[in-house]
Amino acid sequence: MDNPRIGEAALARLLDGWCTDARESLHRQLAAALTALISSGELPPGTLLPSERALASTLAVSRGTLVTAYTTLRSLGLLDSRQGSGTRVRGVSQPRLPGSATRLNPLSGAADSSVIDLSGAALPGQDWVADVVGSVSPDDLRRWVRGHGYHPAGLPQLRTAIARHCTEDGLISEPDQVLVTSGSQQALQLIATAMLAPGDEVLVEDPTNWGALDAFRDRGARLRTIPLRDDGVDADVLVRLLRSRRPRLLYLAPTVHNPVGVNLRPAVAKVIAAAVAETGTALIEDLSSVDTLFTGPPPPSMASLAPDAAVLSIGSLSKLFWGGLRVGWIRSTVDFVKQLATYRSSADMGSSVPSQLAALRLLEYVPRARRTRAGQLRAGYEWTSDLLATHLPDWTWVEPDGGASLWVRLPEGNALAVAEAARRGGVLITPGSVFSATDGQLDRVRVSFAAGPDAVLEGVQRLASVWRGRRRLR
Ligand SMILES: Cc1ncc(COP(=O)(O)O)c(C=O)c1O
Repeated sequence: MDNPRIGEAALARLLDGWCTDARESLHRQLAAALTALISSGELPPGTLLPSERALASTLAVSRGTLVTAYTTLRSLGLLDSRQGSGTRVRGVSQPRLPGSATRLNPLSGAADSSVIDLSGAALPGQDWVADVVGSVSPDDLRRWVRGHGYHPAGLPQLRTAIARHCTEDGLISEPDQVLVTSGSQQALQLIATAMLAPGDEVLVEDPTNWGALDAFRDRGARLRTIPLRDDGVDADVLVRLLRSRRPRLLYLAPTVHNPVGVNLRPAVAKVIAAAVAETGTALIEDLSSVDTLFTGPPPPSMASLAPDAAVLSIGSLSKLFWGGLRVGWIRSTVDFVKQLATYRSSADMGSSVPSQLAALRLLEYVPRARRTRAGQLRAGYEWTSDLLATHLPDWTWVEPDGGASLWVRLPEGNALAVAEAARRGGVLITPGSVFSATDGQLDRVRVSFAAGPDAVLEGVQRLASVWRGRRRLR
């Protein structure tokens, strides 16, 4: 096997949180973090590391810091540098997980409570959700406890309620077209497991949801990207690739795209739906963020626009009620759902029955919960955009249709370095490359307002101070 190489963006991701101790020198912290990656096998022997210059710039440290850290590791016998052939990891082989260097997984969050976390866009549950979940009584549960409790496709009553919910949102559905999953992330994993073999091609937007990229990569899929411009996906490129490549899967988030927050324009959605039906490509439409729309009912789903195409629509109760419920679904054809249920049995046998009973109750509150969420999110967007406009006037962002974050374009600089510098300034934001299958989006960062107004105020002030500091250095 060829020796692996790791780019500066992927290494920066693995080093996530390397610099946490203000009393310790940067080169020592960096050397310690690299040593940990080498000893855990995440940087296996033979790996070619990025150049000192490239990694220093990405980590927002001086070249001298990098040179000293690499020199320390060389003196410990962990690195080997040869003129003209770069710096490689030395050492003994360790057991390791394949592909760990490409995993995006940015959910580490802030370990220290003095750090403001504007990186996670997952919303807290609404307060009254606890009361509704708590209203599931022992008597409600008793009849299920008398059975074995394994329902790979989901509790029949919940499948019926989700089918009704999809129908009310404009996608006419029957209960046996619904497979209940443990959140929409499991829905993605299940589809990837059932449909992909190593080397299969999957079309994804750039940027897109990192969880989908990880699910497809875990199956060894080859990811091909379609650019997502500020006004939506480039439909010409998409249709051309569908016709010429005939990929195994196309993954889109047509309503409240993560991370950009925009809806696919209806005319573009129709063009894509027609191309999907024509080429026979299976489409995953991720509708898990539909409940974060700032206003109005959900736009028509791709499945309703292309009723004859192979569409797998994914939904979730995480955004509307609470991620901790772990209830989501796949809505597709009866046959496909039946087949997926067999894969599901070997994954986890089925979702938690108490969670499904709670979900059944919560689905009665959809209109009220959507109204509350929309109000909270609209207000969040307004205060965050006002604060950014005041404190960081040269940052710009895409006007979202929903969600709990802003997709910000930096006027200059590398987003990875800006996010690193921000971390050292006590605030976490997500660099755009976390959402990119090609480690691109280096002029973008995602700034979340899920943590609430106080955190956003303090976080934006810290960001502004970090930004001014970087400007002064130029
Ligand atoms: C677009 C998208 N898909 C899927 C998920 C996973 O959500 P869950 O598994 O909680 O439904 C998220 C979570 O933030 C998301 O933003």
